[in-house]
Amino acid sequence: MDILFVGDVVGSPGREMIKDYLPLLKRKYRPHVTIVNGENAAGGRGITEQIYKQFLEAGANVVTLGNHAWDNKGIFEFIDTAKYLVRPANFPENTPGKGLIFIRLNSIEVAVINLQGRTFMPPLDCPFTKADELITLAKKRTNIIFVDFHAEATSEKQAMGWYLDGKVSAVIGTHTHVQTADNRILPNGTAYMSDVGMTGPYDGILGMEKEAVIKKFITALPARFEVPKSGRKQLSACIINIDDQSGKAVNIKTILINDDQPMYNE
Ligand SMILES: [Fe+2]
Ligand SMILES: [Fe+2]
Repeated sequence: MDILFVGDVVGSPGREMIKDYLPLLKRKYRPHVTIVNGENAAGGRGITEQIYKQFLEAGANVVTLGNHAWDNKGIFEFIDTAKYLVRPANFPENTPGKGLIFIRLNSIEVAVINLQGRTFMPPLDCPFTKADELITLAKKRTNIIFVDFHAEATSEKQAMGWYLDGKVSAVIGTHTHVQTADNRILPNGTAYMSDVGMTGPYDGILGMEKEAVIKKFITALPARFEVPKSGRKQLSACIINIDDQSGKAVNIKTILINDDQPMYNE
């Protein structure tokens, strides 16, 4: 079975890429499960119920989140009823929402876990200990376990990849918005990639208007970043092939699409 994972969707340019390209990608790769990280989907900050539903309509089966999960206050109105929405699991106990969900499609069950790193990020519970706890729960139902590790430092991401090698099907990084070229299968069968990349504006800085970001670096003054309203767009994703029975990954391939280039030229 294959899992298609699309990285951080940023604002309306990212949502347009999902609407235009996700159905094409699904037709091409026929993934069993499609997962989209939506933490920046509403103007770069959080997600709304309407956007969450649009992603499901476009073909996503599960939507993961990250440190921006709470930026759009409307999240608290629907997170507890959104069955296919996952937020970082290592927030304090009693935080709304879930950090582990199961999805069953055509008799294959997949566990999806979202975790957030702690290096150069706000303090949270230990993501490694939380991973162990959730994997024990997930293993009672399925061997196919996907982890979206939302973290800043590649060292912490690699540490999680090696720590979970052989325990889960995939550890894929999100949050840094730049697709890394280190996709690989670790020795015990876990697919790993430091960051799947971002879906949204192509000519900005991590999905935001570049002028404001450059100005902030030069002046060191606080600045508000906005998502560019027009311009070229990109979609960043990966496709992971997994053995149905063992849950071990067989292959991981990266996908990077620009909307000004033909999609299928291979
Ligand atoms: Fe992000
Ligand atoms: Fe993030």
